[in-house]
Amino acid sequence: MQGTLILGASGFLGPHLVASAFAEAQALATMADPFGPPVIAVGRRVEEAPRFTQPRNGAQWENFDLQMAEELPAAFDRWQPSHVVLAAAMSRAAACEADPAAAEASNVVLPARIARICGERGIRLVHLSTDQVFGAQPPPRKGFAESEPVAPVSVYGRTKAAGEAAVLEAYPQALVVRLPLLYGDSAGRGLGASDSLLEAVERDEKPALFTDEFRTPLEVRNAADAVVELMLGNQTGRLHLAGPDRVSRLELGLAILAAMGLPSEERARYVRPALRQEEQASAPRPADASLDASRAARILETRLLGVRAGLERAIGA
Ligand SMILES: NC(=O)c1ccc[n+]([C@@H]2O[C@H](COP(=O)([O-])OP(=O)(O)OC[C@H]3O[C@@H](n4cnc5c(N)ncnc54)[C@H](OP(=O)(O)O)[C@@H]3O)[C@@H](O)[C@H]2O)c1
Repeated sequence: MQGTLILGASGFLGPHLVASAFAEAQALATMADPFGPPVIAVGRRVEEAPRFTQPRNGAQWENFDLQMAEELPAAFDRWQPSHVVLAAAMSRAAACEADPAAAEASNVVLPARIARICGERGIRLVHLSTDQVFGAQPPPRKGFAESEPVAPVSVYGRTKAAGEAAVLEAYPQALVVRLPLLYGDSAGRGLGASDSLLEAVERDEKPALFTDEFRTPLEVRNAADAVVELMLGNQTGRLHLAGPDRVSRLELGLAILAAMGLPSEERARYVRPALRQEEQASAPRPADASLDASRAARILETRLLGVRAGLERAIGA
């Protein structure tokens, strides 16, 4: 391995990818090269990204706008990666709905460009996508498998589905990993399913949690470890990562409050059970985007954690 490049390193998942890739690189360290192959962490506001690496400043962080298409080949010359994880995206569904052209630029054009560069140079590429490529149809009993046709309901889901296709057309040896709803440590930034809920509770908002919206959530560090393991492997095409538990938004929310140590009679005071039709959504959302990750579970050494084990790990962190 020559070096790992994490693109989108300053988001929710990115800092965990950096930490996981750095731990893998350290395993290759020698006396002459005490950190192992470099891990380069690229975002637009890396100064705001939490540093989960041990030691804290092990990775090389850099601000670079990936939309600067003409500068990208020279940047790749400088970074010299052998492995790339593309986590950069326009990932807020409401923002995508408000500006579909920007969503297309970030979620389709940009990944296709990165895939072409990686393909030309024979660089291993893992591109991250989402369970939101589904939703217009209910899932099969075990959740959506990789073979199910995409059927998005939002601009976010449509552009991510188009981005997957563009990446695999430009570079068929790339791996597209579809992720589910992620929860876990965002270092106080209110990102992800658990920290955003805990912030709303802290603000005394009594957030509405749906009893009729289902996901197969995954803890963010667990997701990062699995993605980095896949980066080091040779799978191609599309692969689903998800937790083994299909839960409603309310069930997940109550499990988060339980993991925080709130007794069961108190949890109901902080959240409000609701039906999807009772709330106005800022973007259309699938009622059930459950993924069947049985293929990944067979391939991976990293065990994909259920909600209880994932929350124990996240809250413990
Ligand atoms: N979080 C989830 O629950 C979830 C679920 C399923 C799939 N995913 C997928 O997983 C990936 C990572 O998600 P996330 O939650 O970590 O997203 P996120 O928090 O929105 O982070 C996205 C990252 O991409 C960066 N970025 C966007 N455009 C860029 C550009 N032009 N140049 C450089 N950096 C750019 C952002 O930088 P700035 O912060 O400066 O904009 C940020 O660091 C995405 O592909 C997302 O679709 C996430």
